[in-house]
Amino acid sequence: MKNLKTLIVSILLIGFSVNVLAQKPIYLDNNQPIEKRVQNALSLMTLEEKVAMCHAQSTFSSKGVPRLGIPEVWMDDGPHGIREELLWDSWGSAKFTNDSCTAFPALTCLSATFNPELALLYGKSIGEEARYRNKTVLLGPGVNIYRTPLNGRNFEYMGEDPYLSSRMVVPYIQGVQQNGVAACVKHFAMNNQEKWRGHINVNASDRALREIYLPAFKAAVQEGRAWSVMGSYNQFRGEHCCHNDLLLNKILKGEWNFDGVVISDWGGVHNTDQAVSKGLDIEMGTNSARVKQSVKNKYDEYYLANSYLNGIKAGKYDEKLLDDKVSRILRMIFRTTMSADRPYGKFVSPEHSDAARRIAEEGIVLLKNDKQFLPIQVGKYKTIAVIGENATRSLTVGGGSSQLKANYEVSPLAGLIKKYGKEHIVYSKGYETNTEMYSKKINTKINVDSLLNAAVEVAKQADVVLFIGGLNKNTMQDSEGEDRVAYNLPFGQDRLISALQKVNKNIGVIILSGNAVAMPWQTDVPSIMEGWYLGSEAGNALANVISGTVNPSGKLPFSFPKKLEDNGAISFGNESYPGDSINENYKEDILVGYRWFDTKKIAPQFAFGHGLSYTTFEYSNATTDKTNYKENDLVKLTFNLKNSGKLKGAEASQVYITQIKSSVLRPAKELKAFFKATLELGENRLITINLPVKDWAFFNDKTQKWDVEPGKFTIQIGSSSADIRQKVSVVIE
Ligand code: BGC
Repeated sequence: MKNLKTLIVSILLIGFSVNVLAQKPIYLDNNQPIEKRVQNALSLMTLEEKVAMCHAQSTFSSKGVPRLGIPEVWMDDGPHGIREELLWDSWGSAKFTNDSCTAFPALTCLSATFNPELALLYGKSIGEEARYRNKTVLLGPGVNIYRTPLNGRNFEYMGEDPYLSSRMVVPYIQGVQQNGVAACVKHFAMNNQEKWRGHINVNASDRALREIYLPAFKAAVQEGRAWSVMGSYNQFRGEHCCHNDLLLNKILKGEWNFDGVVISDWGGVHNTDQAVSKGLDIEMGTNSARVKQSVKNKYDEYYLANSYLNGIKAGKYDEKLLDDKVSRILRMIFRTTMSADRPYGKFVSPEHSDAARRIAEEGIVLLKNDKQFLPIQVGKYKTIAVIGENATRSLTVGGGSSQLKANYEVSPLAGLIKKYGKEHIVYSKGYETNTEMYSKKINTKINVDSLLNAAVEVAKQADVVLFIGGLNKNTMQDSEGEDRVAYNLPFGQDRLISALQKVNKNIGVIILSGNAVAMPWQTDVPSIMEGWYLGSEAGNALANVISGTVNPSGKLPFSFPKKLEDNGAISFGNESYPGDSINENYKEDILVGYRWFDTKKIAPQFAFGHGLSYTTFEYSNATTDKTNYKENDLVKLTFNLKNSGKLKGAEASQVYITQIKSSVLRPAKELKAFFKATLELGENRLITINLPVKDWAFFNDKTQKWDVEPGKFTIQIGSSSADIRQKVSVVIE
């Protein structure tokens, strides 16, 4: 009897403990819906723990809740590779030996591929690297619109067109986030210049905001489902963008239903009241005087740290707002580091090199190619002179936060030597950068003339010359914190190119940059190529295109003006760019990029969407399924694309719309679709593109709604914005 009792009690006890053990808290149970987990975790946290999640604990991380096993949030730049590990409290290198990453091409190059599949590959690959390094957040991609060629950070963005940027950013984000790493879309918003970026107050119309500057962010949030967004440094309509009621509360979190985390740019927060109420969730990088003076823990001095905590305790701030911030952060953690499906990632794999090379090859843009100067087949020439500093310079370092410690970087010279054989290549530097990285101090010791003369001698003796120059990632070139000071090439390159072409007419110019540059020598040289910043595989990709192993198919994601004043923003003078140091008014309004050139009938040097191939394409038979449509219809557009040249190749066809008559100003052209097709030699393909009529709307600033105005529209199909091959007229009823 006694034994039986003991047995029953034991069974009950075992049952009870199994039950207790099996009952994980809801927030740890991966089978529970995320929202339930968020609410559960939140309910278990103290006020102090919650506030601690809303600000940095180190240069690149914010706190988790160790007591509950909720991990810290680790962030890293972005957007071209995974930045090296930095010290806990400063920007100094942590000097790890295992954090050298794959450097992917700059986002301008990605955009130039006009190939969303490559954006997915890019996102997937960089996401794998971020995951391997156990990052919660990748600080990228950037989708600020290319407004002027002087913006020092254009190379980190996707060009001047909202539609192109939107189509490219969505798959990038999806690729990253498949890895259980949050993309952080930046810099939201109107951060279109580096000059005075910390305070310049941008004023622009609702139309410019909605039609030009916000669509890529909206697509990133609504279609890409980005899990975080970074506020920008500048002000918009009088409020800093890291705490901007209109942008963050009303548009992002309100209209777009963004359920992720708003992270400040580093040092972009200025005030506790505003940081609390105007849409920010995590404060990073604050480095104000009050923080420096702090003796104990500088992170306690952040605007969203002790002053926030004390404010809540004193009843000044509503804890509900804090709960919203923390819910967002928890949601992001459950989607990433606490997700049961998180893959393991991989780092500097051969697949990543392959991806970097493919993206680079497809993004390189052949701008001019008279008399079939390119391709230069292997064996065609005995001596190829390679001239220019960018042929050997590392272009993955510099530029600011996007700089990388690359596992390797094949320079253009190394790529060309590998392709053509070292006995056929002679190199001469020709010019040299006269400032140190991140410094404005001019190095006066460089002997410009002797470098030039030596290069001219080399060019004279060669069968062909490849000049490889452009910009670099130094301050006041393509770099963060400052804009460019001139549109012309720096370091005497214009003079050098002119001197070279005088002694050898067989010269190709290869520009490596993230921005348009002036080309006063444009008519003097037979061939020009835009080679961007291509990352680890730069030299291989360039050599493959130059030699014809790869047929180029990149198209410009922004216009190259003939002269700087031809650019819309700049044509209005300082008030419009760069502002008077306090305010800046976007006077060109919606006419950004080709919208300006086409509407104002100004011919650019090279138009948006331009890019040549070694083969040719013919467009014919464009037609639509009907002639009259309603607002909710799809226009089914078809046309024939034929590879009429001598090689297999790819063409990114572009579809622009024009409204013939409208009650408001409409740009002469607006890109509404593009399609990249690879065609075999002689192949003739019927291309079908569906165009939703609702996308042809303009933003009506009076009603604050998108309006499709009835009337006649022309659909223009082109090989670039300036090379329209087919037109079809339709009527919207
Ligand atoms: C940049 C951001 C970057 C952050 C962290 C800032 O200066 O504007 O783009 O993600 O630093 O490095």
